[in-house]
Amino acid sequence: MARHLITSALPYINGIKHLGNLVGSQLPADLYARYLRARGHEVMFICATDEHGTPAELAAAKTGEPVAEYCARMHGEQAELARGFGLSFDHYGRSSSPRNHVLTQHLAGKLAENGFIREVSEKQVYSNADGRFLPDRYIEGTCPNCGYDKARGDQCENCTKQLDPTDLIDPRSAISGSTDLEVRETKHLYLRQSALKGEIAAWIDSKTDWPILTTSIAKKWLNDGDGLQDRGITRDLSWGVPVKRGTEDWPGMEGKVFYVWFDAPIEYIAATAEWADANGRGEADWRSWWRTDEGADDVTYTQFMGKDNVPFHTLSFPATMIGSGEPWKMVDYIKSFNYLTYDGGQFSTSQGRGVFMDHALEILPADYWRWWLLSHAPESGDSEFTWENFQQSVNKDLADVLGNFVSRITKFCRSKFGEVIPEGGEWGEVEQQLIADLNTRIAAYDAAMARTDVRKSAHELRAIWVLGNEYLQAAAPWSTFKTDPEKAAMQVRLGLNLIRMYAVLSQPFIPFAADSMLSAMQTDLRDWPQDAGAALTALPAGHAFTVPEVLFAKISDESREEWAERFKGVRA
Ligand code: 2FM
Ligand code: ZN
Repeated sequence: MARHLITSALPYINGIKHLGNLVGSQLPADLYARYLRARGHEVMFICATDEHGTPAELAAAKTGEPVAEYCARMHGEQAELARGFGLSFDHYGRSSSPRNHVLTQHLAGKLAENGFIREVSEKQVYSNADGRFLPDRYIEGTCPNCGYDKARGDQCENCTKQLDPTDLIDPRSAISGSTDLEVRETKHLYLRQSALKGEIAAWIDSKTDWPILTTSIAKKWLNDGDGLQDRGITRDLSWGVPVKRGTEDWPGMEGKVFYVWFDAPIEYIAATAEWADANGRGEADWRSWWRTDEGADDVTYTQFMGKDNVPFHTLSFPATMIGSGEPWKMVDYIKSFNYLTYDGGQFSTSQGRGVFMDHALEILPADYWRWWLLSHAPESGDSEFTWENFQQSVNKDLADVLGNFVSRITKFCRSKFGEVIPEGGEWGEVEQQLIADLNTRIAAYDAAMARTDVRKSAHELRAIWVLGNEYLQAAAPWSTFKTDPEKAAMQVRLGLNLIRMYAVLSQPFIPFAADSMLSAMQTDLRDWPQDAGAALTALPAGHAFTVPEVLFAKISDESREEWAERFKGVRA
């Protein structure tokens, strides 16, 4: 038994996430966590809402709620949806938690102590009407290059020219529209990432087993991007972690907070402390996952994220960890994903294009989505959601292959032998062959799951389901029964045991259906099959079961068309 720490990238608090967000981090992380638990490992699976930054403040302003209330409400909604999708976090924390405040301030203090922070004076636009400094992209005006009147302070969207806010003609606040702006001098903290470049490069070079997507992005930023330039880690906002040096005030930093990307990854650690607080555990319990001097040296730490998050997790967060000079557990493996596109375009949160987590659960159970998303995870390139493809996968894989198998065998048994597992004789040659084939496939499934090879795992699992159908087709107990009821009983006993084994193997992908299958089989035997032959004797003759409700309903053409129309744009 090993100890596995798993984190999923933290979803931003502002708004319900779409299926592209889900498949890029939380869902594959859940697959892996469920698999490792099923194999008997000790797992700590952590996620949280990422609650700071200007977008959170603006989203709150839009609904008219105080930002703290907005975040608390949205955290509740996101946590509820996570439960609905069966995401099995050990803790779903909040980056605005007191734990994260303390830890972020502590790490900033350590970085300063070790000489990795410098103070920089900058000129920045201050809006008198809004009573705040404005980030570049919250200043609007007319582009000096093309005359477009909604150019942003960082770039003109129309002609793509990079701009400084002071280049804009008639600048105004994007928040209030006010033109009462002035340039003020203000001080910020910079993390001296450049001073840590050598150590970070060596650390990345040592990760020879990482997916190419992860290392190629990391190396690109390390070598020819500006990923390891010193980086501003403070902002003039009111919502966030106040800038402090440990528990001490930081002279000149009054009224400032840490930049959202500085405190967000620290929340991986803080959320584990929140887990301890919520579960009556002590400091040593969470620290044993994160401090290599307090037990975490035997932990394997895997992170899941979309590719846009890779630079922060391969460069900036490691810079914080290394620069602190403290023995924090560093990530062992970073699994990253490309993008999921929606019907020939992008999912868009702002335009409401695509399927969002709340709507998804309104129209179909979580397992339908989990199966499609995981079996089409954007691993080697982007993948595209289309309603046709979704309908086809659900109808074929879930309804025809798995669902149909379960329904045929349970109904046949009920009609001929009643709702108990029949006796019958020993396995014959066909059964021995099936067991051998299952063992080969299960080994391949195991290997793919252990490597977090998501699509390959789905492919192998489906192949395992197909073996059952092929067996049933060949053995044809409904025909056998006419001439040799004893043999038919044996075939049925095997088929019913396969249902239990399928539930156990499928649980990481489709946990809700797996639970229905186990409860229909009236068992909670969840041991992972080491050998199919042994696993298929788990339910003995005489064991009662019930015929389950339809496991997966087919998606009709009418539903498919209706949903395609409903989700094509502008979120209701
Ligand atoms: O891209 C995002 O959705 C970010 N909220 C991810 C943060 S991951 C971590 F570092 F907290
Ligand atoms: Zn322009």
